[in-house]
Amino acid sequence: MERTFIMIKPDGVERRLVGEIIRRFENRGFDIIALKMLTMSRDLAEKHYEAHKGKPFYAALLEFITSGPVVAMVLQAENAVTLARQMMGALNPLDAAPGTIRGDFTTDTRKNLIHGADCPEAARREIALWFPELALDS
Ligand code: PPS
Repeated sequence: MERTFIMIKPDGVERRLVGEIIRRFENRGFDIIALKMLTMSRDLAEKHYEAHKGKPFYAALLEFITSGPVVAMVLQAENAVTLARQMMGALNPLDAAPGTIRGDFTTDTRKNLIHGADCPEAARREIALWFPELALDS
Protein backbone atom coordinates (compact mmCIF):
# COMPACT_ATOMS: atom_id res chain seq x y z
CA MET A 1 0.00 0.00 0.00
CA GLU A 2 1.17 3.51 -0.81
CA ARG A 3 0.44 6.75 1.00
CA THR A 4 0.00 10.19 -0.51
CA PHE A 5 -0.44 13.71 0.79
CA ILE A 6 -3.51 15.68 -0.32
CA MET A 7 -4.56 19.21 0.59
CA ILE A 8 -7.90 20.85 -0.15
CA LYS A 9 -6.98 24.48 -0.76
CA PRO A 10 -8.75 27.57 0.66
CA ASP A 11 -11.07 27.84 -2.35
CA GLY A 12 -12.24 24.26 -1.80
CA VAL A 13 -13.07 24.97 1.84
CA GLU A 14 -14.73 28.31 1.00
CA ARG A 15 -16.88 26.66 -1.67
CA ARG A 16 -17.96 23.86 0.73
CA LEU A 17 -16.39 21.18 -1.45
CA VAL A 18 -14.56 19.38 1.38
CA GLY A 19 -17.18 16.66 1.72
CA GLU A 20 -17.51 16.19 -2.04
CA ILE A 21 -13.76 15.82 -2.51
CA ILE A 22 -13.27 13.43 0.40
CA ARG A 23 -16.29 11.40 -0.76
CA ARG A 24 -14.64 10.88 -4.14
CA PHE A 25 -11.49 9.48 -2.56
CA GLU A 26 -13.45 7.27 -0.16
CA ASN A 27 -15.68 5.99 -2.96
CA ARG A 28 -12.59 5.11 -4.98
CA GLY A 29 -11.30 3.02 -2.07
CA PHE A 30 -8.69 5.21 -0.43
CA ASP A 31 -8.30 4.93 3.34
CA ILE A 32 -8.00 8.17 5.32
CA ILE A 33 -4.94 7.72 7.53
CA ALA A 34 -4.81 11.25 8.97
CA LEU A 35 -6.67 14.50 8.47
CA LYS A 36 -6.57 18.04 9.85
CA MET A 37 -7.82 21.54 9.10
CA LEU A 38 -5.67 24.59 9.64
CA THR A 39 -4.67 27.94 8.18
CA MET A 40 -1.10 27.63 6.95
CA SER A 41 1.52 29.90 8.45
CA ARG A 42 3.87 31.67 6.09
CA ASP A 43 6.64 29.40 7.40
CA LEU A 44 4.74 26.19 6.64
CA ALA A 45 3.75 27.50 3.19
CA GLU A 46 7.38 28.33 2.36
CA LYS A 47 8.50 24.88 3.44
CA HIS A 48 5.69 23.12 1.58
CA TYR A 49 6.38 25.01 -1.66
CA GLU A 50 10.17 25.37 -1.33
CA ALA A 51 10.73 23.77 -4.76
CA HIS A 52 8.84 26.65 -6.39
CA LYS A 53 10.68 29.54 -4.74
CA GLY A 54 11.67 32.10 -7.36
CA LYS A 55 9.06 31.07 -9.92
CA PRO A 56 6.79 33.86 -11.29
CA PHE A 57 3.71 32.52 -9.52
CA TYR A 58 5.41 31.93 -6.14
CA ALA A 59 4.25 35.13 -4.38
CA ALA A 60 0.65 34.72 -5.58
CA LEU A 61 0.69 31.06 -4.60
CA LEU A 62 1.85 31.82 -1.05
CA GLU A 63 -0.68 34.63 -0.65
CA PHE A 64 -3.50 32.40 -1.83
CA ILE A 65 -2.56 29.30 0.13
CA THR A 66 -2.32 31.21 3.42
CA SER A 67 -5.57 33.14 2.80
CA GLY A 68 -7.84 30.72 4.66
CA PRO A 69 -8.11 27.25 6.12
CA VAL A 70 -7.02 24.15 4.21
CA VAL A 71 -7.80 20.49 4.86
CA ALA A 72 -4.69 18.32 4.80
CA MET A 73 -4.80 14.55 4.73
CA VAL A 74 -2.84 11.37 4.23
CA LEU A 75 -4.61 8.87 1.99
CA GLN A 76 -3.64 5.26 1.41
CA ALA A 77 -4.29 2.92 -1.52
CA GLU A 78 -2.38 0.87 -4.07
CA ASN A 79 -0.61 3.45 -6.29
CA ALA A 80 -2.15 6.23 -4.21
CA VAL A 81 0.10 9.00 -5.58
CA THR A 82 -0.68 8.42 -9.24
CA LEU A 83 -4.34 7.59 -8.73
CA ALA A 84 -4.95 10.71 -6.66
CA ARG A 85 -3.26 12.89 -9.29
CA GLN A 86 -5.51 11.35 -11.96
CA MET A 87 -8.58 12.08 -9.86
CA MET A 88 -7.47 15.69 -9.26
CA GLY A 89 -7.19 16.51 -12.97
CA ALA A 90 -4.76 18.82 -14.74
CA LEU A 91 -3.76 22.29 -13.53
CA ASN A 92 -4.53 23.88 -16.91
CA PRO A 93 -8.34 24.16 -17.06
CA LEU A 94 -8.23 23.32 -20.76
CA ASP A 95 -6.62 19.97 -19.93
CA ALA A 96 -8.67 19.10 -16.82
CA ALA A 97 -10.93 16.30 -17.98
CA PRO A 98 -14.60 16.15 -16.97
CA GLY A 99 -14.97 13.64 -14.15
CA THR A 100 -11.85 14.91 -12.39
CA ILE A 101 -12.10 17.20 -9.38
CA ARG A 102 -10.69 20.22 -11.22
CA GLY A 103 -12.50 19.29 -14.42
CA ASP A 104 -15.82 19.27 -12.61
CA PHE A 105 -15.42 22.21 -10.22
CA THR A 106 -13.00 24.90 -11.44
CA THR A 107 -11.91 26.91 -14.45
CA ASP A 108 -9.24 28.82 -12.52
CA THR A 109 -5.52 28.03 -12.73
CA ARG A 110 -4.78 29.62 -9.37
CA LYS A 111 -7.89 28.64 -7.42
CA ASN A 112 -7.42 25.02 -8.40
CA LEU A 113 -9.02 23.42 -5.31
CA ILE A 114 -6.55 20.70 -4.46
CA HIS A 115 -2.88 19.82 -4.09
CA GLY A 116 -1.53 16.30 -4.33
CA ALA A 117 2.03 15.06 -4.00
CA ASP A 118 3.42 14.52 -7.50
CA CYS A 119 5.67 11.51 -6.78
CA PRO A 120 6.28 9.06 -3.91
CA GLU A 121 9.33 11.00 -2.74
CA ALA A 122 7.30 14.22 -2.53
CA ALA A 123 4.57 12.33 -0.67
CA ARG A 124 7.09 11.16 1.94
CA ARG A 125 8.50 14.68 2.32
CA GLU A 126 5.07 16.30 2.61
CA ILE A 127 3.74 13.68 5.05
CA ALA A 128 6.82 14.24 7.22
CA LEU A 129 6.27 18.01 7.10
CA TRP A 130 2.54 17.94 7.86
CA PHE A 131 2.18 14.80 9.95
CA PRO A 132 5.58 14.12 11.53
CA GLU A 133 3.98 11.52 13.80
CA LEU A 134 3.39 9.38 10.66
CA ALA A 135 6.77 9.87 9.05
CA LEU A 136 8.30 6.68 10.39
CA ASP A 137 5.64 4.33 9.01
CA SER A 138 4.86 5.99 5.64
S1 PPS B 1 6.10 23.90 -12.29
O1 PPS B 1 6.83 25.13 -12.54
O2 PPS B 1 5.70 23.20 -13.50
O3 PPS B 1 6.81 23.01 -11.35
O4 PPS B 1 4.82 24.39 -11.57
P1 PPS B 1 3.49 23.59 -11.41
O5 PPS B 1 3.78 22.17 -11.00
O6 PPS B 1 2.66 23.80 -12.62
O7 PPS B 1 2.82 24.36 -10.22
C1 PPS B 1 3.45 24.39 -8.97
C2 PPS B 1 2.46 24.85 -7.92
O8 PPS B 1 2.11 26.21 -8.16
C3 PPS B 1 0.72 26.33 -8.40
N1 PPS B 1 0.54 27.33 -9.45
C4 PPS B 1 0.02 28.52 -9.24
N2 PPS B 1 -0.45 29.11 -8.15
C5 PPS B 1 -0.92 30.38 -8.26
N3 PPS B 1 -0.93 31.06 -9.41
C6 PPS B 1 -0.46 30.52 -10.55
N4 PPS B 1 -0.48 31.22 -11.69
C7 PPS B 1 0.04 29.19 -10.50
N5 PPS B 1 0.59 28.34 -11.39
C8 PPS B 1 0.89 27.22 -10.73
C9 PPS B 1 0.25 24.97 -8.79
O9 PPS B 1 -1.10 24.79 -8.45
C10 PPS B 1 1.16 24.08 -7.98
O10 PPS B 1 0.71 23.98 -6.65
P2 PPS B 1 0.00 22.68 -6.13
O11 PPS B 1 -0.36 22.99 -4.72
O12 PPS B 1 0.97 21.57 -6.25
O13 PPS B 1 -1.21 22.52 -7.01
